[in-house]
Amino acid sequence: MTNSPTIEELSHEDRIFPPPEEFAAQANAKADEYDKAAADRLGYWAEQAKRITWDTPFDTVLDWSDKPTAQWFVGGKLNAAYNCVDRHVENGLGDRVAYYFEGESGDTRTITYADLLREVSKAANALTELGVKTGDRVAIYMPMIPETVFAMLACARLGAPHTVIFGGFSSSAIADRVKDCGVEFVITADGGYRKGKPSGLKSVVDEAMEDCPEVRNVLVVRRTGQDIDWNDDRDLWWHDVVDRQSETHTPEAFDSEHPLYIMYSSGTTGKPKGILHTTGGYLVGTSFTHWAVFDIKPETDVYWTAADIGWVTGHSYIVYGPLANGATSVLYEGTPDTPHRGRWWEIVEKYKVSILYCAPTAIRQFMKWGRDIPAKFDLNSLRLLGSVGEPINPEAWMWYREHIGGNRCPVVDTWWQTENGSILISPLPGVTATKPGSAMRPLPGIVADVFDDEGNSVEPGNGGYLVVKEPWPSMLRTLWGDEERFQKTYWSQYPEVYFAGDGAKIDRDGDFWVLGRVDDVLNVSGHRMSTAEIESALVAHPKVAEAAVVGAQDEMTGQAIEAFVILRESAADGGDDVVAELRNHVRSAIGPIATPRSIMLVPDLPKTRSGKIMRRLLKDVAEKREVGDVTTLADSSVMDLIQKGVSES
Ligand code: WTA
Repeated sequence: MTNSPTIEELSHEDRIFPPPEEFAAQANAKADEYDKAAADRLGYWAEQAKRITWDTPFDTVLDWSDKPTAQWFVGGKLNAAYNCVDRHVENGLGDRVAYYFEGESGDTRTITYADLLREVSKAANALTELGVKTGDRVAIYMPMIPETVFAMLACARLGAPHTVIFGGFSSSAIADRVKDCGVEFVITADGGYRKGKPSGLKSVVDEAMEDCPEVRNVLVVRRTGQDIDWNDDRDLWWHDVVDRQSETHTPEAFDSEHPLYIMYSSGTTGKPKGILHTTGGYLVGTSFTHWAVFDIKPETDVYWTAADIGWVTGHSYIVYGPLANGATSVLYEGTPDTPHRGRWWEIVEKYKVSILYCAPTAIRQFMKWGRDIPAKFDLNSLRLLGSVGEPINPEAWMWYREHIGGNRCPVVDTWWQTENGSILISPLPGVTATKPGSAMRPLPGIVADVFDDEGNSVEPGNGGYLVVKEPWPSMLRTLWGDEERFQKTYWSQYPEVYFAGDGAKIDRDGDFWVLGRVDDVLNVSGHRMSTAEIESALVAHPKVAEAAVVGAQDEMTGQAIEAFVILRESAADGGDDVVAELRNHVRSAIGPIATPRSIMLVPDLPKTRSGKIMRRLLKDVAEKREVGDVTTLADSSVMDLIQKGVSES
C-alpha cells in the first residue's frame, strides 16, 4: 500500500477496465447521455427535472442573471418529502422497503414507503404542534436511526430547513451552528450505539444549550435508554409527542428555490460555512446522479451508502437521492468492526446488497484487516461499487474491485463536494472504461475543467485547479448569512467560474485525476476540517501561545492532523502531559475526528516577513522530507530549531 500517487505516477496508469458487456447492456445511462447533454445542456436538465413531481411546472430552467446565485427551475413548486415518499405510495409502491435498518447491536427494523409516509406525517404534525413553521431552521443531532430520516423529511415537508450536525461533533460545534443559523428547535436522541456501547448525544446537546438560550424545545428520541438529564421546560420525548399524532398530513408545495437544508462544512477560516441547498435543483441533481451513476433499478436493487447522514453523502445518497427514486436502502447505525471485522460483509450478505458506496479510508482499513474477512461472506449480490470523499489510491481501487467486487463490478470513483450537492465527476458504470484512481469525466450536463493560475485550461498531463464552468442544478446557492464569503470563496479566483479548492489534472485521454485540496482544508478519512479551525481550538487553550496545523500524508486516513504548538512561558516545560491535555482539548472542542495524530512542542514557527505561517515547511517536517526553500522566512534558523526538536524527540 502506498500513499496518494504523484502526478508522475498517475500519468503512467495504463490499467483500463471497460464495463462488462452484460452490465453495459442493462445500464440506465448509455453513451448518448453525453451527446444529448452536449447538444442542449439546459434542455437536458429540463428532461432530468421530469424525475420529480412538480405541483406547479417551472417556466425557466435556469436564471443566471443574479450571478453567482443561480435559480433553477424557476416558477416551479414542489414538496421534497412528497417526492421522496407520498408519490411512491400513491403509485402503489407502499409495500416496497425504503430502509432495512440495522442497529449496531443487531436490532433491525424494516421500513416500507407506507411506513415512512405515516412516520413522516406524524413527525410533521408534531413539529407543527410545537410551533415549527415554514422557514424556521431545525437542528438535528442524531445517531444513524430511522427517526433521523423521519425528522429530516418532516422538516422538508414543512419547508423548515434542517441543519443536521454530525453526531461526532462536540457541544461547542453544536452551539456554533445553532447560533449561526438561528435555530430555535433541536431534535436529538438520548444516545446511539458506537463500538458496542451507548454513546451520549442528549448530554452533548444539554451542554451546547447552555450557550443557546434561544432554543425553546429539544425533542428527544429514545434509542439507548441510557440515563439523561431532563429540563421540563424545554425537553420533550419524541414518543410522547409524535406517537399520538395523526398519520396523515397534507404537504404544501414550495418554490423550487425554497431552502431545503443547511450543511456546515469546513472552509479555510476557523468558522464553518453554512452551505445552503434549495429544493428543486437539489432533488433533480441527486435523483439524476443516483440513477445515472448508481444505475439504480428500484424494483430489484438493494442500495447501501455506508456513510453518515450527518455528512452530505448521507443527505444526498442515503436520504434524498434514493428516496426520490423509490429505492430500497440499507441504513446501518454502527462501526465496521462491531462486533467483528466482517460486519459490513455480513450486512451485504444478509440484505443481498447490490450497490455499495463508501469512502477510500474504509477500503484501506479493510485492506489492512485482510482479504480473508470479506472472503468468508457471500458478496455475489454486489453488482456496482462506488467510492467518495477523498482521492482513492489505485491499490485500494484494485483491492476493492477484486476482493469486494469479485472482479465483476464496475467501480465508480465519484468526485463532488458538500457545495455541489450531488456527484459531478464520475464514470458512468455502463459506459466508461475506468482507470484505477481516476474519477474520469464530468457527468452529462456538467462542464468542468482544470485551470492554470491565469484561468486557461491546462494542457493535457499538467496540473491545475479544478473548476466548474457552468452552473448545475444542485449547486449551493449561498453561505447562510454570508453572501460575501460565498462570492469570495468560490467565485473570486476566476470570473463566473466555480472554484472547487481541489488540485487536479487531465490526462492525455481527457480523464480527470483529483489530487486533493489546494487550500488549508484537511481531508481526514474523508472528513473535511480546516487547519484554522483546529488552530483556533488549540490557541483557545490557556497553555498555548501559538499553533500551526498541517495535514500530513497518512496511509490509513489519507491525511492526518499534525500540530505544532508554542506554549506560553508559564507552561513551558509541561512535557507529555501537556501534549495529552492538548489532544483531549481539541477532541472536546471539535470532536474526536479532529484529534491531532501528533502535537509537537516547538520554540517558534516558520513565518514569512509579513507574518504568514509557512505551513509548507511544517508539512515537510511532518512528512519527514527534506525541508524546502527557507529563504523567504523572516528568520531562517527557525526550521533548524524545529528539526532539532524532531530528531531529539
Ligand atoms: C474530496 C464529500 C478525490 C475533495 C462528498 C473535495 C475527493 C472534498 C473525491 C469534498 C474523489 C471528494 N476524489 N477527492 N472522488 N470526493 N473528494 O464536502 O478534496 O465532505 O473538495 O464532500 O473531498 O468533501 P465534502
